[in-house]
Amino acid sequence: MLEIKPLHPLFAAEVIGLNLGQEPTPETLTEIDRAFADFSVLVFRNQDITDEQQIRFSEHFGELEETKVGTPGAGSKLIVLTNIGSDGEIIPPSDRQVLNNKANQQWHADSSFKPVPAKASMLSARIIPSAGGNTEYISMRAVYAALSDEMKARIGDLVGVHDYAYGRAKIDPDLVTDAERSALPPVKQAMVLTHADGSESLYLGAHCASVVGMAEAEGRALIDELMAFATQPQFIYSHPWSPHDMVLWDNRAVLHRATPFSSTSEKRLMVRTTIGGEAPTVSHAAA
Ligand code: OGA
Ligand code: MN
Repeated sequence: MLEIKPLHPLFAAEVIGLNLGQEPTPETLTEIDRAFADFSVLVFRNQDITDEQQIRFSEHFGELEETKVGTPGAGSKLIVLTNIGSDGEIIPPSDRQVLNNKANQQWHADSSFKPVPAKASMLSARIIPSAGGNTEYISMRAVYAALSDEMKARIGDLVGVHDYAYGRAKIDPDLVTDAERSALPPVKQAMVLTHADGSESLYLGAHCASVVGMAEAEGRALIDELMAFATQPQFIYSHPWSPHDMVLWDNRAVLHRATPFSSTSEKRLMVRTTIGGEAPTVSHAAA
């Protein structure tokens, strides 16, 4: 039996009693699946594992996404988030790789810009700075549940347009390459997702550029209003990383963001695997 220790009143829990480097039993996987459905964010501490072990463990939850063009790790199943260059030194803040890390400081759901968005992400802390660099999560189930009935009725059938280039342009208009732009055209995502247990969550984030059927300004105003509601402190769990922490989160039930640290003087190295989704959130995913 695993021990599940809640980390926040609404969601997020630590899972105790598991070594991710060992093959889990079917019973253990069932317990993890249940905890994942209940808590959306699971923290496994002291997991000093290799990339291969991370891939192997992640694959128990579904097929992994291949890392997209333009990202360190492209073509493999790993995304490397770091400010360390191939020479082992800290990369200058103007570098594309560092700007892309900065883009992660916007609230987002991984791969919401893909026709079938990611189910889950698993992030492993390999090198962490002495201060800062937390990853923060919002329970979008709790947010949805707290919306007024009037707002729930207003957004229930709405569809957002999620565009990779939109989110990145907020950091730097030149950050997105032509190759990325043509590989990642805008897609449609339902604004409210219904989970297997019948619970619902709000689905937004940095890639959400507009709302289908609304003028741009009107859609933007609605997105901003919902994000202002969602980012209230009571909905947020902030994870302070220790080396070898592994965090698994449900991209359809939480938004997440990186937070700043002294990235010109301290090193940070995180490795992510991304578990692909099973189906589009709307019947016609291509915008
Ligand atoms: C990610 C991500 C945030 C961080 O891995 O998808 O957004 O704190 N990471 O590195
Ligand atoms: Mn992310």
